[in-house]
Amino acid sequence: MPIFTHFFFNFYFLDAGAQGVGINYGLLGNNLPPPDTVIRLLNSKNIKTVRIFEPDPNVLRALGNSGIEVVLGTLNEDLQQLAENPAFATQWVNTNVIPYVPAVKIRYISAGNEVILGPLAQFVAGAIQNLDIALKASNVSVPVSTAIQFDAIGQSFPPSSGAFKNDAVGAITPVVAFLVSKQYPILANVYPYFAYASDTVNIRLDYALGTASGPVVTDGPLLYSNLFDAMVDALYAALEKVGGPALRIVVSETGWPSAGNGDVAVVPNAQVYVNNVLAHVKSAVGTPRRPGIPIETHIFALFNENLKPAGVEQNFGLYYPNMTEVYAVTF
Ligand SMILES: *[C@@H]1O[C@H](CO)[C@@H](O)[C@H](O)[C@H]1NC(C)=O
Ligand SMILES: *[C@@H]1O[C@H](CO)[C@@H](O)[C@H](O)[C@H]1NC(C)=O
Repeated sequence: MPIFTHFFFNFYFLDAGAQGVGINYGLLGNNLPPPDTVIRLLNSKNIKTVRIFEPDPNVLRALGNSGIEVVLGTLNEDLQQLAENPAFATQWVNTNVIPYVPAVKIRYISAGNEVILGPLAQFVAGAIQNLDIALKASNVSVPVSTAIQFDAIGQSFPPSSGAFKNDAVGAITPVVAFLVSKQYPILANVYPYFAYASDTVNIRLDYALGTASGPVVTDGPLLYSNLFDAMVDALYAALEKVGGPALRIVVSETGWPSAGNGDVAVVPNAQVYVNNVLAHVKSAVGTPRRPGIPIETHIFALFNENLKPAGVEQNFGLYYPNMTEVYAVTF
């Protein structure tokens, strides 16, 4: 992260989610508790930021005056209209933002989730810009960004060689230029779990879980003892190559499934990973490439969601839908 000024950094990091950590609150379950119950659960656990994937009116109402900030996503299906039709962006803001502010504190708006690489990628930059214009027109001051998937990165090892895939460069470049010009962060979903699960031969489990006792990867002068830092630094390196050396990264998702993949996706691994990554980012040590720059991080996810694809995707929750803990986590 960046050149942007310390003022900017302090404003967005310290001002929000007290400790710079939050949780993803997905709604793809037919057995989830009502939003007001969920908000009480979040407050009881000292979780001060949630990310939602669509502007659900019931969730937004429940967040009002709750003391919990929200990272508010647009549906991916809305990106094309948001990009092509400024009136649609104005309507989106009038429907999904204006009725709720200032009782709801919106930390960022994310134009889509994980669409860079894919047919909707071309609409992200335009959607961000039209939303930004619409928010400004209503005097609402909220950074607009998008959440990128790590799959958009082609090369990630060693971290300093990090680069976007050729297919992603065309879409990410104007997004980065706009975010840099506004000093808004980029959101990124970073899963050491998926990296490990795809290559258990070459990647050490303790490195993926964040429990290695010393450096595992040496990259020039930089030493890596955990895969999370290595992945974030590969993103920083990739962003540097598309005009974003000053861009701040917010990790919009990270987590580890507790079931659905043999002895890799098990409760002890999930519990160790999530607690380690929280402790790591709360210590605000940054990464080897950006020492001392805290990484605001949002855990995925609050609940196991039974309407997601079977397997690990249904098992990222820290809680069962009945609000019993899958495993204990300290926020
Ligand atoms: C936004 O603020 C400006 C300057 O204070 C004011 O003139 C304008 O009416 C405001 N617009 C809205 C939509 O509140
Ligand atoms: C909550 O759900 C989990 C998973 O189905 C189950 O194991 C647990 O017993 C339930 N807890 C309560 C209090 O019902």
